Amino acid sequence: MALCKIKIRRKIGKLSKTVPITVYKTTDSTNTQAKSYAEKNRQESAVFIASEQTAGRGRLGRSFISERGKGLYLSILLGNGFSSDFAISLTTYMAVIASRTVEALGGVKAKIKWVNDVYVGGRKLAGILTEGKAANDGESLEYAVVGIGINLLKQDFDMDVKNIATTLEDESGKRIDVNSLAAMIIREFFENLDKAGTPEIAAEYKARSFIIGEDVTVIKPTESYTAHVTDINEKCELILSLPDGSEETLSTGEVSVRKINR
Ligand code: BTN
Repeated sequence: MALCKIKIRRKIGKLSKTVPITVYKTTDSTNTQAKSYAEKNRQESAVFIASEQTAGRGRLGRSFISERGKGLYLSILLGNGFSSDFAISLTTYMAVIASRTVEALGGVKAKIKWVNDVYVGGRKLAGILTEGKAANDGESLEYAVVGIGINLLKQDFDMDVKNIATTLEDESGKRIDVNSLAAMIIREFFENLDKAGTPEIAAEYKARSFIIGEDVTVIKPTESYTAHVTDINEKCELILSLPDGSEETLSTGEVSVRKINR
């Protein structure tokens, strides 16, 4: 079923009166659209959804494949200012919300790979990119944009992506309506927003972890090394045990981890 603003608005009920939704057949990136909207409409929250992105972006400068009609490409703009810590917790919060949603609609089991990926059946189903604009005080943010891309329908991934990505159709055997998926994410996100950054969300994030107890390669801009993941703490930081016996705590930033399959 094609992306339809009227259907989404109907499904989110009274929230549609306070949060404007823009739907694109095609756009460069819903995160980019949300950021330019924020520059013109101060203090507003809004949602941007596309059937296709021509310049979908992922973390660490990667591109995000956003084939027309095959996925949900959605960004939520939170226009109120807040602390940088809260903005960081929006990624982990969205990972939990998206996991609950795909489980409810698809009947699948969703796991989270630190810090921003939702995995089903051992493969990546969704990725999250949170961006923001620093305020003049240098400590807080003027606004934040949380973007999520979910692979919904079967598609011909390139060879390099095939072994690591999956779709909700592949995993659930169902073609889930993109409007129901979008509406449930928007509703759950706004209705539980006061829980973002709380120990409750961190506990669920940890319980869904795909990598606790696993060996990983830690990839930083200037170095890569192997480590063992021992825990995720109340700030959703990753606790690593290094080969020399020392411990390292990773918070989000220019770092990614890759599970080592033995
Ligand atoms: C990642 O896998 O590293 C994050 C992917 C985030 C993709 C979403 S799709 C909607 C929004 N618009 C973008 O350009 N990126 C995010």
